[in-house]
Amino acid sequence: MYYIKKEFEAALKDAKTHEDLKQIKASFIGKKGRVTELFKQMSYLEDEQKKEFGKNINQLKNYIENSIKRKLDEINETIKRESLDKESIDITLPARKSAFGSIHPITETIIEIEDIFKSMGFDVETGNEIEYDRYNFEMLNIPKEHPARDMQDTFYINDNVLLRTHTSPTQIRVMKEKKPPVMFISPGKVYRRDSDITHSPMFHQVEGLLVDRDVHFSDLKGVLSEFLRMYFGDVPVRFRPSYFPFTEPSAEVDIGCIICKGKGCRVCSHTGFLEVLGCGMVHPNVLRNVEYPKEYSGFAFGLGVERFAMLKHGIDNIKLFFENDIRFLKQFS
Ligand code: PHE
Repeated sequence: MYYIKKEFEAALKDAKTHEDLKQIKASFIGKKGRVTELFKQMSYLEDEQKKEFGKNINQLKNYIENSIKRKLDEINETIKRESLDKESIDITLPARKSAFGSIHPITETIIEIEDIFKSMGFDVETGNEIEYDRYNFEMLNIPKEHPARDMQDTFYINDNVLLRTHTSPTQIRVMKEKKPPVMFISPGKVYRRDSDITHSPMFHQVEGLLVDRDVHFSDLKGVLSEFLRMYFGDVPVRFRPSYFPFTEPSAEVDIGCIICKGKGCRVCSHTGFLEVLGCGMVHPNVLRNVEYPKEYSGFAFGLGVERFAMLKHGIDNIKLFFENDIRFLKQFS
């Protein structure tokens, strides 16, 4: 009996699975199990011995049954722990990065330009992309049949309504709403029937307007020179006389070519300079059209956002901004 117990304990120690337990159970206390066999031997014994022997076998059987039960619990516990370990999530691992979009280079350029003008005290206003002919042209001193209308191939919606060809009508909208002084910039989309590697039928401009008492051309020059310095860095700035119907005098502003540093290259047509802005003192007719008092004067300017972005990032085709090729856009994140 002693040996049976030892053998049982050894077998139980090595048991790892339910199947192992089943076999052990069968071979010790099953129908033909070794302990069951012992019961059969009892018939050979004297009554006195039977009692003692039977008690011992019963004890052994109970011991085996309980041990198997305990081992079963142990095995179940191990199986549970192993499966939990397998399924558990290690929350100490860094999370997988989710893909973020990036700000479009045009939006980014507008934000940069806004930040510079805001730091000088300019407000930011929005205009309308669908505009009255009156605001886009007439009130800006561009009457019907004026040759300047040909400069801007216009998308008309009907005789009186069009897609704005520049952000300048926002000047009219704001001045009609607000008494002077006004000081704002206004970014937005504009539309012209024009398409090649530097022109897109839809592009972006930033308009600027400052009207107050005693505003002079020197103020215009100071503000725009400082703005260009803040945006492009330390570059030469040049004001050239020009013509716009809504400003008088008018000027175009050039910066030293940032590609060739003024030496002359294809981008600057070998002039060493790049045109970046149109500007001028607000034409008295425009101020009169919005019924501003005579003692007010002002300056206005307009710039092309795509051109600014192209120059700053060395981009040579305007279409890249609108094709939304993720490989192009990713470079700006
Ligand atoms: N609106 C002009 C253009 O689109 C730019 C401009 C704005 C010029 C304001 C002078 C003053 O070319």
